[in-house]
Amino acid sequence: MSSFDLIVIGAGPGGYVCAIRAAQLGLKTAVVEGRETLGGTCLNVGCIPSKALLHATHSLHEAQHNFDKMGLEGAAPTVNWDKMQAYKGDVVGQNTGGIEFLFKKNKVTWIKGWASIPAAGQVKVGDEVHTAKHIVIASGSEPASLPGVEIDEEVIVSSTGALALKQIPKRLAVIGAGVIGLELGSVYARLGAEVTVIEYQDKITPGMDADVQRTLQRILAKQGLNFVLGAAVQGATTAEGGATLNYKLNKTGEEHSLTVDTVLVATGRKPFTAGLGLDTLGVALSPRGQIETDSHYATNISGIYAIGDAIAGPMLAHKAEDEGIAIAEILAGQAGHVNYGIIPGVIYTTPEVASVGATEEALKAEGRAYKVGKFSFMGNARAKAVFQGEGFVKLIADKETDRILGVHLIGPAAGDMVHEICVAMEFGASSEDVARTCHAHPTFSEAVREAALACGSGAIHA
Ligand code: NAI
Repeated sequence: MSSFDLIVIGAGPGGYVCAIRAAQLGLKTAVVEGRETLGGTCLNVGCIPSKALLHATHSLHEAQHNFDKMGLEGAAPTVNWDKMQAYKGDVVGQNTGGIEFLFKKNKVTWIKGWASIPAAGQVKVGDEVHTAKHIVIASGSEPASLPGVEIDEEVIVSSTGALALKQIPKRLAVIGAGVIGLELGSVYARLGAEVTVIEYQDKITPGMDADVQRTLQRILAKQGLNFVLGAAVQGATTAEGGATLNYKLNKTGEEHSLTVDTVLVATGRKPFTAGLGLDTLGVALSPRGQIETDSHYATNISGIYAIGDAIAGPMLAHKAEDEGIAIAEILAGQAGHVNYGIIPGVIYTTPEVASVGATEEALKAEGRAYKVGKFSFMGNARAKAVFQGEGFVKLIADKETDRILGVHLIGPAAGDMVHEICVAMEFGASSEDVARTCHAHPTFSEAVREAALACGSGAIHA
């Protein structure tokens, strides 16, 4: 048995970041993690492996469709799936190993195993009970199931199974046109699968800017993804290495079926808190199973805190990381804080999609007066050079004060460019502030400046 100032449960982006910051601030810190490697869902079976597959298959797409246009002639590469999986594993290994190194460097103890909380101040792992002044639950989330569709991780898979399929399916059905569905749908479409995405809502990526939704759907359709929108999946049956999905169109009630080799269920995730003993302890949960916390991440049980996917808010690694830093600072006597109004969201398709702040739709519903500056990547020299002129930057500012309220981008490196506006928003900048900032030429970022100019006296290259 050992005693700590802080025991963090879970070594995903929320937990490991929390532990490192707490240790840096002088707290004797341990993390309990039951996986073989650190990094949680994100590093092991989520963000990182999917980005490796997106990079590899984007490269393939470039070779098949764009190399010849640039005078790079010759046969396009063929796919060695085992080797691509090994590359993915190597990327994951480098990153999970990196966290282990950072734990050693910062003197964070890794307690290997699955934790439960027998009482406040106690964390049980195997037969050992460790004590801690503070406990932070950062246990993350797991795929949400769908009635009538049983995930077996072979034929009917969650994102975890989809990242490690034994072979590339000829036909793939994706349930849910959200972030996971579109990223992994893109991967397999680029690998030659016939991909059909079935979405309950009438639009893809519900909640995003409507212009972005339309443009992304059009571009992905051109890349070979088939969309069935406004359709509720009723169930799936597996037979002879494949599956048949039944779905009903919401408008007409018409029933259809689709037979495929693999089904990816990407209809959202739910908090993962099983085995922690929260019931016995009396930790309050929301009806959706999220751990309820106050604005300082405290649960209703003194000394027990929670962050990340296990609590309310967007299920994003960077939101969890920021909460991890905030709670570590709070426990160290500082003033930790997360600005929930400025959390970017990114979809790593090609082109990338990124957004932060308010959408036009939300501002309209609020009755707030706003103005929009929109700039197409067709007017951006760099975007045209990489065959990605189809997207745009849409900057939204307050009509009276010109303060930036949000940005929605679809285009090359959108996931990196969005941060310029995050910083601007943190500083309460106006669109004119961005418009008057010199941007290097030729960069994709010039499109952000042009959108800011379009909010005022007008873009130059439009
Ligand atoms: P999601 O919430 O992004 O999308 C789920 C989609 O499934 C929605 O469009 C929803 O309308 C649809 N849906 C739900 N029930 C359905 C049904 N019965 N039939 C048809 N469609 C149905 O969830 P997703 O993609 O599973 O991702 C889970 C979480 O992981 C999200 O919170 C997401 O933000 C996060 N994530 C973030 C990534 C990123 O930041 N790039 C990458 C992957 C996941």
